[in-house]
Amino acid sequence: MDEAEALQRAVAASRAVLGTTSPNPPVGAVVLDAAGALAGTGATHPPGGPHAEVVALAEAGERARGGTAVVTLEPCDHTGRTGPCTQALLAAGVARVVYAQPDAARGGAATLRAAGVDVAHRPVPVAPLEPWLHAQRTGRPHVTWKYAATLDGRSAAADGTSRWITGEPARADVHRLRAEVDAVVVGVGTVLADDPELTVRPDPGRQPLRVVLDRSGRTPADARVHPALVLADAPAAALAALQERGVVSVLLEGGPTLAGAFVRAGLVDRVVGYVAPALLGDGPAALQGAGVGTIAQARRLRLVDVARFGDDVRLVLEPTPTTTRPTHQEAR
Ligand SMILES: NC(=O)c1ccc[n+]([C@@H]2O[C@H](COP(=O)([O-])OP(=O)(O)OC[C@H]3O[C@@H](n4cnc5c(N)ncnc54)[C@H](OP(=O)(O)O)[C@@H]3O)[C@@H](O)[C@H]2O)c1
Repeated sequence: MDEAEALQRAVAASRAVLGTTSPNPPVGAVVLDAAGALAGTGATHPPGGPHAEVVALAEAGERARGGTAVVTLEPCDHTGRTGPCTQALLAAGVARVVYAQPDAARGGAATLRAAGVDVAHRPVPVAPLEPWLHAQRTGRPHVTWKYAATLDGRSAAADGTSRWITGEPARADVHRLRAEVDAVVVGVGTVLADDPELTVRPDPGRQPLRVVLDRSGRTPADARVHPALVLADAPAAALAALQERGVVSVLLEGGPTLAGAFVRAGLVDRVVGYVAPALLGDGPAALQGAGVGTIAQARRLRLVDVARFGDDVRLVLEPTPTTTRPTHQEAR
């Protein structure tokens, strides 16, 4: 197996543990033996458990000696709840380490090199690591705003009803998105209108933290979203509070008022929009109060992916760099 293939295998292994590793990064690792054959694959266990390298090395056993470790993130050099991965790699006797993304804070490439290991940085994007890298870079959790709307951009009908705008396959995809994040966030307006549970179904054994932003204490005690964390903070402070709890990735599920507040504050890092082949004509827009008064202020996005789910279309977009920065006024 060549190193590029091994890296893709490592990325796939890490994708499978998304949502289970925070505050640690979801890392994937593959160990090739000295002849280049696959000897072990691993991904990060939940906090307190072994890191990806250690899992892959354990599977490889003696075959790791003289072999190559291919890792999605630069191996760590620090002792947290588990020992440094650099030491595990040295103890196993690997001759070469290849990694895709550098870890500026804790990476151990220099330690490995100093010990005589051939270390190569192969810079390729690793999608499962993006939220964690983002959190490292910005000091706040990564936010994906997800919404469902009709073709004319309505997120509910004129009478407030909104179930179900999209079909079953799109709704199943939303459950997959929830399973991959640490926290799901809604505004109290959505709780009052829809009384959503916001769980992942079928239950994967671990549920994201459910969060309601509610500054006036209107969340009913018997709301189906419970047990939920109810926060009275503005978006930036709410994200800081979530980060304190080890949250790295957030799925913002609405509604339009709260989404508008996040967009206005420059706190949306990815948009996942499900567009249904239906027209409503009236009813609330998917986004309200985003602080855009004229076309020149439109929040421009870059299309990352388009996919079809049954009769619905899923668009994945990211802000273009100039629109991610909040203005001085918004940052206050
Ligand atoms: N199609 C979709 O994807 C989708 C998704 C979700 C909801 N919906 C629909 O949206 C409708 C509800 O809309 P909505 O706009 O009322 O829901 P929302 O955005 O979930 O909730 C709005 C409320 O959040 C609270 N909030 C807390 N922190 C806030 C902040 N920093 N900025 C702004 N608001 C904050 C405010 O109440 P306080 O001032 O009391 O704190 C505000 O009234 C329903 O009809 C629902 O079905 C559609």
